[in-house]
Amino acid sequence: MRIAVIGLGYVGLPLSLQFARSCVNVLGIDVDPGKVELLNNRQSYIKHVPQSAIAELVGSGKFSASTDFSRIKEVEAVIICVPTPLTKNREPDLSFILETGRSIAPHLARGALVVLESTTYPGTTEEELRATLEEGSGLKAGADFHLAFSPEREDPANEQSKVKQVPKIVGGYTPACLEKAMALYARAIDTLVPVSSCRAAEATKLLENIFRSVNIALVNELKVIYSAMAIDIWEVIDAAKTKPFGFMPFYPGPGLGGHCIPIDPFYLTWKAREHGQHTRFIELAGEINTQMPEHVVHRVTDALNSRRKSINGSKILVLGVAYKPNVDDERESPSYVLMKLLEQRGAIVDYYDPFVPLIKPTREHLEFAGRKSVEWSRSTIETFDVVLIATNHSCVNYQELGDWAQCIVDTRNAMAGVPVAAGKVWKA
Ligand SMILES: NC(=O)c1ccc[n+]([C@@H]2O[C@H](COP(=O)([O-])OP(=O)(O)OC[C@H]3O[C@@H](n4cnc5c(N)ncnc54)[C@H](O)[C@@H]3O)[C@@H](O)[C@H]2O)c1
Repeated sequence: MRIAVIGLGYVGLPLSLQFARSCVNVLGIDVDPGKVELLNNRQSYIKHVPQSAIAELVGSGKFSASTDFSRIKEVEAVIICVPTPLTKNREPDLSFILETGRSIAPHLARGALVVLESTTYPGTTEEELRATLEEGSGLKAGADFHLAFSPEREDPANEQSKVKQVPKIVGGYTPACLEKAMALYARAIDTLVPVSSCRAAEATKLLENIFRSVNIALVNELKVIYSAMAIDIWEVIDAAKTKPFGFMPFYPGPGLGGHCIPIDPFYLTWKAREHGQHTRFIELAGEINTQMPEHVVHRVTDALNSRRKSINGSKILVLGVAYKPNVDDERESPSYVLMKLLEQRGAIVDYYDPFVPLIKPTREHLEFAGRKSVEWSRSTIETFDVVLIATNHSCVNYQELGDWAQCIVDTRNAMAGVPVAAGKVWKA
């Protein structure tokens, strides 16, 4: 079997490799010629995707990459894994999906299967993508080609969460489309969960991400309330999670980051309006999570104030710009919001992140592009008035940090259990 995977990013690349490992011939297509060249030269550009896996699968001929969409005519199935961001006005931006639809449609073979994996609102596959594919190909979905939605559940850098083992939701445009999509994924994924339609599959993915967003907002709000009552939220969560039923721990932080949780819920908010519905939980969670960087900056102010210093003129080191531990992905990272807020108040800000030695241009924070991580040494760390832990990478030596730093503001409870002088660590 020969398939194409469109969009070779955090989702599309691991998925391509999983199919290639399962004896499917995979053609990876991306609009970025740099990525395509790297892959064909057996190089990885994602930290947790090992070079050896790419080398082996390119070497065996099971995987190759291209920028040429006309090669879609060679394949029996196409899986789309392109970005679904928000516009400047926080509305869904389907332009990547629709552009992909327009690029593949003229080359779509009769009988082929097209599956969308990008997170989006219910209706995208059956309405927007179907119309684009039908218009560009002259074929009819459900009759001349098959159409399905199957959301990605990638958890980058989580060793327990391998593409093969994570159950996969599949919804088809027709029962025959579902059957075809199930047959495809059964080659590479252990457990499949069929649902009644593409819309149900799209809605399932949104439920999963809204669930996270709302629960993170809940602990973020409780963090602020408990802190005012001199109660440590981290201790409380650790105690609560010993309950063997009806509780699942979520952890507070400096704000939401990444390509999914801060964005996807608002896809539903937008679509719900069309049906006269309001997404109050989503809005409230968004409001609380968005306020978190301000809360953290207040704690930095308190920490400096206790040392007769102000943010204005202080040297502050943000530790971690990746949005979560042990990854090199800094899209939508709250660290950039923190850096911006601190600089607006006159701080001299640097960052340290072993996974992000150089900040590349990002859509939201172009102003930080080109900055470089400071080096990890006593002589560097001790020069900062405050070290603000925004991301708790596990390779950081927190004992050294505790010994070297003048003052630490910790948004991740990374200093728990690390012996340090009294008054040095401020939880935020
Ligand atoms: N990253 C995650 O952990 C994760 C998890 C679950 C779901 N998702 C969803 O999966 C989708 C993809 O996310 P990602 O993190 O892999 O994004 P990404 O930015 O890492 O990768 C997207 C890739 O698509 C390419 N691309 C853009 N436009 C294209 C086009 N018109 N044709 C071909 N290639 C194109 C880009 O060059 C890039 O390589 C999004 O909808 C996202 O919400 C992501």
